[in-house]
Amino acid sequence: MPRRILPNPSGLRVVVLISGAGSNLAALVAAQQSADHGARIVAVGADRHSAAGLQLARNAGLPTFVHRISDYSDREAWDLALTQETASHRPDLVVSAGFLKLVGAHFLSRFPGRYINTHNALLPSFPGMHGPADALAYGVKIAGATLFVVDAGVDSGPILAQVAVPVHDDDTEDSLTERIKQAERAQLVEQVSRMARHGWTIHGRRVFTR
Ligand code: GRF
Repeated sequence: MPRRILPNPSGLRVVVLISGAGSNLAALVAAQQSADHGARIVAVGADRHSAAGLQLARNAGLPTFVHRISDYSDREAWDLALTQETASHRPDLVVSAGFLKLVGAHFLSRFPGRYINTHNALLPSFPGMHGPADALAYGVKIAGATLFVVDAGVDSGPILAQVAVPVHDDDTEDSLTERIKQAERAQLVEQVSRMARHGWTIHGRRVFTR
């Protein structure tokens, strides 16, 4: 049975989860200056206080929250706290933009079909933490980024969109990572806007944003 998620007529409410620099978050913040973007960030969460994107969020006037796994008795308690705080912002969509933690069953069941992640490789190749380095080591000529609906696996959920970039002969991990990130940011902004305007449908492993 396909899962159809309709647009919110008053604009798609988005919570963004981060762990790092927040360049994807910055791109989403910039995009919402445009009236036809259709989505607005209602809060930014992180798993560590050192995530530089938190300051970016505060500068943009966005509410922020941090839940560190080490502050909880176990991972399930962390997952529950993260779920409850995220849910308190009533998001239509939760975007993992460089959030370096796998969420648990509480989170996944609270936001079915509404939790997406951007990964810096062309899945199903090179899942995990080192996508660009693994792609370079393998010797592929095309790399890229994948936006997908998160499921209980690691980088294994239904794919919303992919973008490819060339691998150059003189690439280092840094240069390839940066080329992927530029394409990844543009893809994320475009797809979140499409989701806001049209809603989305998940039919097995296939996702449609129209
Ligand atoms: C992205 O490239 C994402 O694919 C990876 O981490 C990066 C996050 O970058 N998992 P930023 O924090 O949005 O700059």
